[in-house]
Amino acid sequence: MKRIFYLIVISISVIGGIQCCNSPDMKEAGFTIDKQSFGKLPDNSVSDLYTIKNPSGFTVQITNYGGIITSVIVPDREGKFADVVLGYDSIQGYLDSSPYFGAIIGRYGNRIAKGKFSIGENKFNLVKNNMGNHLHGGLIGFDKVLWEAEEFTTDSTAGLSLNYRSDDMEEGYPGTLSVKVTYTIRGDNSIQIEYQANTDKTTVVNLTNHSYFNLSGDCSTPITNHELWLDADRFLPVDSTLIPLGDLQVVNDTPFDFTKPTEIGLRINEDDLQILRGNGYDHCWVGNGWNDGALYHIASLSEKESGRVLDVFTTEPGIQFYTGNFLDSTIKGKGGIVYKQRCALCLETQHFPDSPNQPQFPSTILVPGQTYISETIYRFSINNQP
Ligand code: GLA
Repeated sequence: MKRIFYLIVISISVIGGIQCCNSPDMKEAGFTIDKQSFGKLPDNSVSDLYTIKNPSGFTVQITNYGGIITSVIVPDREGKFADVVLGYDSIQGYLDSSPYFGAIIGRYGNRIAKGKFSIGENKFNLVKNNMGNHLHGGLIGFDKVLWEAEEFTTDSTAGLSLNYRSDDMEEGYPGTLSVKVTYTIRGDNSIQIEYQANTDKTTVVNLTNHSYFNLSGDCSTPITNHELWLDADRFLPVDSTLIPLGDLQVVNDTPFDFTKPTEIGLRINEDDLQILRGNGYDHCWVGNGWNDGALYHIASLSEKESGRVLDVFTTEPGIQFYTGNFLDSTIKGKGGIVYKQRCALCLETQHFPDSPNQPQFPSTILVPGQTYISETIYRFSINNQP
């Protein structure tokens, strides 16, 4: 009799356990991915929008058009969730005009002087799309193409793998380049971005992501009150068209010193030649911790009111810190909000601008048989001390 009683108790608890694991509550406690159409492109192909959520509610939306991160929804100190990146509500905004909101940038992130470079004896001419220079891969860079997407979930992550084949001489670059970018959403409210590329001819590659952040969650307010720490003792001064002059300048005693957490607005209007050329901050800083391939902590951004913090880890030697200087109130973004100058900032991890013409910079050359590998993590957290 006693044995039967125990058997019943054990059976009930086992069944209960199974039911528990299959219950909607438990499902919600895991990682989820939802896919929906994001609208048609001019050639009638269809873009998708993936909504990826971790167990604590951290949510990232990504479209396979341009590999664009369209929203990042993060809690503040009070547990209130808000979107902390700029973007549009629908594909049309991105198609009409976008200053690279949230996109994958390639084949070359940032500028190549006069759109020219050589590899050995071979000279190449790229599309010039910015003050006589080549910027962010040209007129149809990786931010404006449809990527093949594959979603995945594991017990501790969920994400999206994006693949794109860039043709030989696309936008002027030599070699067919096969590119894979993997976005992984993790339990610690981080987005891991892994880049991989292979080529069939020697070429140049420098991939990054162009998300615009405003940690307050209110993109109608400026980011000048955010505090930034950059583990960088040097930055790259630029000419009047934002091409690096070639030397690495020490940040000490300049408005470019963020080696201690400093409010962004404190020195952004100083009468400094480099600030004037950038119309604010639009420069590449040289990461102190760069060790060719190892992940290191390069930046930390925080916003006092919300308590939100963004930490950036990368394998790249540089970070382009851009304070949205070209935003000029002509764009109405998500929720009809007018994007004013400095309502968001970018922290683009990358090799240095114009490296193909500056042999003293770390090389951006990729040869057949080699694999380009790069990784960046954007990790969100909360500072509980107001
Ligand atoms: C980068 C550049 C800026 C600007 C933006 C896009 O961050 O460095 O000069 O072109 O992209 O508007």
